This record gives sequence, C-alpha cells and structure tokens, in this order.
Amino acid sequence: MQGKGSIRLPAERTSDHAPTMIPAPALNPLAQAANQALAADCPVVFDLLSERGKRFFFPAKGILAQGAEAKTKATIANATIGIATSGGVPMHLGAVHQHFAGLDPREIYDYAPSYGKPELRQAWAKKQREETPGLGNHPISTPVVTNALTHGLSVVGDLFLNPGDDVLIHDLHWENYDLGWGTRLEAKLHTVPLFDRNLTGIAMQAFIEALGRFKGKKLLVALNFPNNPSGYTPTKAEAGAIVNALIAAAEAGTKLVVTVDDAYYGMFFDEACEKESLFGRLAHAHNNILAVKIDGATKEEFVWGLRVGFLTYGVKNGTPAAYKALEDKTAGFIRSTISNVTQPGQSIVLKALQNPQFRAQQAEKVAILKARAAVTAVEVRKPEYADAWDIYPFNSGYFMCVRVKGTTAEAARQKLLERGVGAIALGETELRIAFSCVEEAQLPAVFAHAAAAVRAARGG
Ligand SMILES: Cc1ncc(COP(=O)(O)O)c(C=O)c1O
Repeated sequence: MQGKGSIRLPAERTSDHAPTMIPAPALNPLAQAANQALAADCPVVFDLLSERGKRFFFPAKGILAQGAEAKTKATIANATIGIATSGGVPMHLGAVHQHFAGLDPREIYDYAPSYGKPELRQAWAKKQREETPGLGNHPISTPVVTNALTHGLSVVGDLFLNPGDDVLIHDLHWENYDLGWGTRLEAKLHTVPLFDRNLTGIAMQAFIEALGRFKGKKLLVALNFPNNPSGYTPTKAEAGAIVNALIAAAEAGTKLVVTVDDAYYGMFFDEACEKESLFGRLAHAHNNILAVKIDGATKEEFVWGLRVGFLTYGVKNGTPAAYKALEDKTAGFIRSTISNVTQPGQSIVLKALQNPQFRAQQAEKVAILKARAAVTAVEVRKPEYADAWDIYPFNSGYFMCVRVKGTTAEAARQKLLERGVGAIALGETELRIAFSCVEEAQLPAVFAHAAAAVRAARGG
C-alpha cells in the first residue's frame, strides 16, 4: 500500500475521501517514437491515423517487457508471470484438461503475446505470401493476431476512424460494419452499388464516381470479396479496374485506407474469379494507399468458434520501422481491450497449418460448397421462379442473394419461415440464402419454398 503523503496529490483533491484525479497523460514517448517513425517513412499513413490511433503504442517497457526479460535471465525463480504454475507448467484442472487432446498445457493455458503467437504469425505470413504472388518481394507487416475478423475490423476502425470520417462501402455489405464503424466509432458510411442495374457485374462507373466525390480528402474504402451477402468475387478484369480506380484516386490526391476483408478467401467456384486477394496489388500500389488485409482462419479453415484472425498492413513506401509502428499500435489496442487472443485457438490453427493433411482436408470441404453452389445456380435460375426474383451474380463464398419482386424481403422471409425454412432479409428486397449450411439434396426444396413464400407475401 502506498503510504499517506508519499505521493504528491493533485490540487483537485480536497479531502482524504475525495477521489484523486489522475491528469490525462501527455503523449507517451513510445507513441511519439512510433508516430515519428511513421511520419518520417510514410507521412500519409501517419496523417491517416485517427486521434486515438496517434495516441496508441505498445507498452513494451511495462510488465510485459519485465516478464520477457525475466524469462531469459531469471535462472533461480521467475516471479513475474500473472499465471499460476506448478512443476514448470501452467496449473490446470482435470475437469478442464480432459477436453483437450494433443496439446501441451502451455499451448492451452498460458497467455499468448498481445501480438499473437510468433510461430503462428510467421506461418500465416508464409501462407499469405504463397497465396498472393502479386506482392512479389514487397515488404509488408507481419500479421498481428486478432480475435477473428470482427475484432480485426474493429481495431482498424479504432486506428483510422475519427467521428465523422468518411467510409465508402458497397451497398451489399456485412451489417456489422455499420455497428462497428458507424454506431460505435461514429464514422459516416457512404454506400455505392456493388452491381450494375442489370446485375451483370460490378458497377465500376459508380465506384469511380463515388471515389471522385472524396477527391483530395481522407477516405476509408472497405472491400470484401468473396462478398457477404452476394457471394460475388470480381473477375480478373473487374479486380484490375477496382485497383486502377483506387490508384487513380490516390494519384489525384485522395488519402486512402483500403481494407480488404478476405473472410471467405479460397472459396472460389468459378474459373473467372480473381483468386488473388486485392491486397496483393494494393499493398504496393501508391504512397497514398494504406492497404489493410483482414483475414483469418474463421471461414477459410472452418473454425468459426476458435476466434483467430489477422491484421496485416502494406503500403508502397512501407519500411520495417513504419510496419513496426503499425504493429505496435495494433498490439497496443489489443493489450488495452482484450489483452491477448485465445491461446488454444492459436495453437490449434498453428498445428493445422503445419499438418501435411491440412490443405487436402480443406479442399474437400471447399469442394462440397462448390457442388452446392452449382446446384444453387441451377435451382435459383429455374424459369418458373422468374416472377419471384432477380438474381445477384455469385461465384464464391458461403451465400447468394436474390432481389425479390413485388414484395419486401422481410415479408418473404416471414412467409418462408412459416414454411419451415430460414433465410436472412437484408435491406428492402434482398433475401440471402446461405448454401454453406444447406445440404445439397435440400437445395431444390429451399428454392421452391422461397418462390412460394415470395408469391404468398405479395398475396397471390
Ligand atoms: C464479410 C465478413 N467479414 C468479417 C466477418 C467476421 O468474421 P469472424 O467470425 O472471423 O469475426 C464476417 C462474418 O460473418 C463476414 O461475413
């Protein structure tokens, strides 16, 4: 306990019982150092940071650093760690341990670093490089582990969005973007149509015009392919056009954070899809474009509940010092909010990545989804359903979406539910069907029910 009188009390304190106000700290020297590194090497990236992002740093000189130092130097006893150990391993209960097989207690119970397990970060970085040849040898940051993609998106928002900042996002997008960046961080989300009027492909002109409205300003552009909810991935030509439009905007002076949400990466069912993440080109496209890859094991590796995702940064003039500053700020957010990400989740994903069977097992599951997508494509396009909906293009991911005719998606959803089939209503007229969680044999009935539900909803 701190003895009375041994610390200088702020002037606000009027009696022994009044709360002590801790003055707001000045910018921490570690934040200053990170900011200076960014301002020196990537001045635009520094400008893009939110006020909160500018304040953040990783407390490398606190408890964590002392613990790390003790790990190598405390040869007699290490009394630094905030866990309980016995016989050199974390203490654990039989009632818990019986549920784990094949993992060492250290791989389950010990804390993971705030940046994530180093071996997992390296393994994921290797996977990203292999899958993204467009990166070439361009340096990018080492991925920082997040509590899956939702958390990654949330941290990106914290780092780059001030209240009132502009975000450009496709009209068809995962609704949690609104909650995280709009409701929580008070950014202004502007939507641009994903598809052209006839639903033949991406509405490129609309995207180019929308970018033009923010000329010379700061803008966060959110990309997500395979897209939730439409299940669409751009063709190679469309992907090139998106990247070129962003480069043209950057060239015109717009300062861009481009988030590339690769949640459904690898679930491509059509040869025409661009199979490489747009991050590959954006990460070294222009000094005015900070590309942020948000990806993870959740959907790709079929481990939704394990909560393992990654945040990775790339910018044309990126340097080791600038990337370290971004990694430190990211890990600082993690330390301040959740401290670190689940150890068992990270250990299992790492072991899976190292398992020689892993890729083949994953491909088997993707093939099942591809077969379902093929059946879906036939069923949803049956001429007898033409009165019920228009079909948004789909070629990848977990979902597809129809635009119901003559009624609302919510009314159709209610009627569909009465028939014992669940689907998601989005916006006025979009009904999302997740073929990822419907057996192939059930798909024809799902679409027959859906068409009947649309007709029932419009009263005929
Ligand atoms: C486009 C998109 N991004 C991110 C997420 C979040 O994924 P996670 O479960 O890894 O947080 C989802 C989940 O539905 C999603 O559809």
